[in-house]
This record gives sequence, structure tokens and C-alpha cells, in this order.
Amino acid sequence: MVKNVVAVLTIIAIGVWLAGSPVAAQQSRGAVVDVPRSPNAEQLARGRYMVVTGDCNVCHTVNYDTLEGKVPENEWLTGGNVGRRGPWGTTYPTNLRINVSAMTEADWVAYAKELRTRPGMPAWSLRETSVEDLRAMYQFIKSLGAPGKPARPFLPPGQEPETPYVQVVAAGPPKPLAPLPPSTAGNVQRNAGANAATSRSGPDAEILALGRYMVLTGHCNNCHTRDYGRLEGKVAEKEWLMGNLQGHRGPWGTTYPTNLRIEVSKMTEAQWIAYVKNLRTRPPMPWWTLHERNIDDLRAIYQFIKTLGTPGEPAPSFLPPDQQPKPPYIQWPAAISAQ
Ligand code: HEC
Ligand code: HEC
Repeated sequence: MVKNVVAVLTIIAIGVWLAGSPVAAQQSRGAVVDVPRSPNAEQLARGRYMVVTGDCNVCHTVNYDTLEGKVPENEWLTGGNVGRRGPWGTTYPTNLRINVSAMTEADWVAYAKELRTRPGMPAWSLRETSVEDLRAMYQFIKSLGAPGKPARPFLPPGQEPETPYVQVVAAGPPKPLAPLPPSTAGNVQRNAGANAATSRSGPDAEILALGRYMVLTGHCNNCHTRDYGRLEGKVAEKEWLMGNLQGHRGPWGTTYPTNLRIEVSKMTEAQWIAYVKNLRTRPPMPWWTLHERNIDDLRAIYQFIKTLGTPGEPAPSFLPPDQQPKPPYIQWPAAISAQ
């Protein structure tokens, strides 16, 4: 037994030595010559992961949504051709390769940390992205290839877009947030569970922070939290991910972002992982980006959602295409599925 352990440790030690020495040599060489850091494979993979799970392609890549993510990388992020229309006019997701090609890595980080745009872009979640991840995204976007042409320019209000667009069909002037549904006996029990999560037996603070970060940068709140987009992310955590009354209407019918707390409260962590790894939904949920998430991040998302509090009420049920939803809802273009 002891012999085996020693043998294993020796193998590990040799492995570490073999793997470590070229890196160490490279690092010391870098230190002497002081060349600018070039991205390594790990950083590019991280950048790709943050772009995919951050849904940048959903808006900034032509057809990414309709092809359920099956767009080759050499076509990624050259700008979207589906507008976001509202009282501000019509915004088009920009060609991010052009942004990146005109900046240094440090410029990009500073820019993203302060980014303000017109509506359509969830700039608040990009601002919450860590410096390390922003650097990785920069390097990944830079590696995608030639910048190409700029996306369509912004159209001021009153100008009719020539392209398909997404638009909120309002119910009238915006209303203040409704109070949370009253808690029930079952909820009290779940709250006790949520509090226990901060004790030693529950997930630690690091896991919860990771889960929160992945929910934020993955834009889950944009759809699954009421008024989150309109309030540019300024919604208290106790209201996060309880589903949305604002449906998404398109050729598929009207879908309502579900109450994810209910989902999570019904499952163990292992069940959740198996569930999201195989998830397929109707549009516009980018379910394929959940498949690309690593297990640790999915676990952290589960644990974080679990601590948010009482599950509350389910979101409204799906309406088939021939049924008219109650405003407000988001109207998706009919043409989007045929593009
Ligand atoms: C829901 C759609 C949507 C998603 C998701 C999205 N964007 Fe955007 N983005 C837009 C739109 C629309 C604009 C143009 C806004 C404007 O015209 O002011 C934009 C603008 C930007 C800009 C400003 C560009 C400029 O020149 O002004 C940056 C930078 C950006 N997006 C980066 C990202 C990154 C990185 C991601 C992924 C983490 C992302 N976006 C995800 C829709 C989106
Ligand atoms: C663009 C809007 C949008 C974004 C962003 C989004 N969702 Fe969804 N999601 C939806 C809609 C709409 C549905 C309901 C689809 C249906 O009815 O088939 C849904 C369904 C789901 C379901 C299936 C629930 C069920 O009952 O079958 C899960 C799980 C889910 N989303 C998790 C997430 C997570 C986690 C994130 C963030 C990483 C996220 N979603 C981001 C819109 C979105």
C-alpha cells in the first residue's frame, strides 16, 4: 500500500517536472526579453467559453440564434442583422472584431468596464465581467480573423428598419414592480434551507460567488427576471430568476422564461446537471450554450439559485402560435426563422 502510494507520487512528481520545466523556461525567457504576453491556448479557450456562455453570438453573430449555435467560428461576432427596436430607435449588434482590432487589451478592458450603450445591449453584465475574463475575451475575439465590414448603423426613432427586428409590445407606461408573492408554510422551510447554505455544511462562499458570476455574465436574468433589462440590471437578488410575465412571441408561439427557482427546488444537483446538459427548449432560450458549460459552473449556478429564496409562482404557460398573448411581450420577427 505504502509502496503504491510512493510509486504514484513519484509518477506525479515526474509528470509535474516534465510539464513544468518548459513552462518555467518560457517564463524566465519572457522575463528577460520582456516581450508582450501572447495568448496561450488556455486563455483562448477561456475567452471562447466566456463569449459562448455570455451569449455574445446570440446577438452579434448573424444566424447564430436560428441555427442554434451551429455557425463556424470564422463567422462569429461580425455584427448582427436583427435590430432591437424601441423608443430609442433601432440598434444593431456591432461588429466586435472591429472594436477589438482598434484597441489594445488594456484599452478593451477599460472600455468594457465602463461600457454604456443604447438599449439592446446588456452592457451592465459586461461591466461585471472580471478583468481576467475580459482579457481572455479580447484575445479570443482577436484570434477569430479579419474584422470585416461594420454592422448596420443605428437608426433614429421614426425610421423604418429594412431588416427584421425585435420589439417590446408594451401594455402602456411602465409600472412599478409588483410586491413579491406572499410566503407560504412550504416556503418557510425552504428559507431555512437557504440559510443553512451559509453554514459549514452548505456550499461555501466561493461556490456561491461563482454561481452568481455565471448567472450574471450568462445573462440569465435578462429573460428569467422581471424588468431586469428595463432596469439595466438594478433588481434586488431576492427577485432574481423567478420567471417572467413578459413573453417572447415569434413563429413558435409565445414562450415565457421559466421560474428557475422552482426548477432547481425540484432537483438534486446531479439531476440539474443531467437536465441542463440535455436541455432543449423553444426559442429564444439559448439552450445549447448551457450544454457547453462546465460541470463546476453548472453546480455553482444550481447552488446559487437555491440560496436565492422562496421559489414563488410558476411563469405563465406557453401559448401556441394562434393565441394572442397579453402585453407586454417581446415580438420576434417572423422572418428570423427563415433567414
Ligand atoms: C441581447 C443582444 C445582445 C447580447 C446578448 C450582447 N450584445 Fe453587445 N450589443 C448589442 C446591441 C444591440 C449593441 C448596439 C448598441 C448601440 O447601438 O448602442 C451592442 C453593442 C455592444 C458593444 C458596443 C460596441 C460599440 O461600438 O458601441 C460592445 C463592446 C458589445 N456589444 C459587446 C458584447 C459582448 C462582449 C457580449 C457578450 C458578453 C455582448 N455584447 C452581448 C446586443 C447584444
Ligand atoms: C433570451 C432569453 C433567455 C435567456 C438569456 C435565458 N433564458 Fe432560459 N428560457 C427562456 C425561455 C423563453 C424559456 C422557456 C422556453 C420554452 O417554453 O420552451 C427558457 C427556459 C429555460 C429552462 C427550461 C425550463 C423548463 O421548465 O423546461 C432552463 C433550465 C433555463 N431556461 C435556464 C437558463 C439559464 C441557466 C440561463 C442563463 C445561463 C438562461 N436560461 C438564459 C429564455 C431565456
